[in-house]
Amino acid sequence: MPAALETRSLTKHYDDGTVALEGFDVSVPDGAFFGLLGPNGAGKTTLISAVCNLIRVTSGEVLVFGEPADSLIARSWIGLAEQDINLDRFLTVEETLIYHGGYFGMEKHDAVDRAREMIEVFDLRAKGDVRTPKLSGGMRRRLLLARALMHRPRLVILDEPTAGVDFELRQELWRYIRKLHEAGTTILLTTHYLEEAEELCEEIALIRGGRLIARDSADGLRQAYDATSLADVYVKAMSPT
Ligand SMILES: Nc1ncnc2c1ncn2[C@@H]1O[C@H](COP(=O)(O)OP(=O)(O)OP(=O)(O)O)[C@@H](O)[C@H]1O
Ligand SMILES: [Mg+2]
Repeated sequence: MPAALETRSLTKHYDDGTVALEGFDVSVPDGAFFGLLGPNGAGKTTLISAVCNLIRVTSGEVLVFGEPADSLIARSWIGLAEQDINLDRFLTVEETLIYHGGYFGMEKHDAVDRAREMIEVFDLRAKGDVRTPKLSGGMRRRLLLARALMHRPRLVILDEPTAGVDFELRQELWRYIRKLHEAGTTILLTTHYLEEAEELCEEIALIRGGRLIARDSADGLRQAYDATSLADVYVKAMSPT
């Protein structure tokens, strides 16, 4: 069975010369709950942008369930909630979801039903007919997550989904993501909340300066770094010795 995500020697040099990824190899097994941890500027969002065809890579290869990441089928398998919230300001909450479904080829009635379901799950009932600029910051984050899940992707990529999110939604979100994971969906998560990663992720990749430094379960990492917690691992792994 192919991995949900596989990168081979992935390298990204931005036009201004910034080396964001250098020979990056990582493989995320089908069905995994996988965490990508690293400091600001480590290359996490660049990696995700490469997987989702939002940037042109310098060299290397990305496969999604065995298919090239830029193929139509691979694109349809991925659901992305970006770190930067980008919503169409002229659409309502409901329209945002239904249009996204349409873009991914969902039948109208299916898209409408699914949009209702997502609105329920993310507690946006009171805001269904409201245009996105009138949402609060946390509500925009909720809508972004709902949109990412709308077309039932096999690989869900969450780039710091809980930044700026209230306690209740965090609980709610993790309950829902866990359920998705139990149903077989692969989850790729970046977060700066190490306890969150420790609790949720079966496997964790540590990334620094565009390179993979370690990849293991939280337990495995604790052992390898002779650490008592993932936070302790993180400090040891990221210290520039
Ligand atoms: N469009 C761009 N042009 C030039 N450099 C960029 C661009 N986008 C990102 N970078 C640089 O690439 C490096 C990796 O950035 P990236 O956004 O991938 O980090 P990150 O791990 O997601 O960080 P954070 O935790 O802050 O979100 C940084 O040095 C960043 O300044
Ligand atoms: Mg980022």
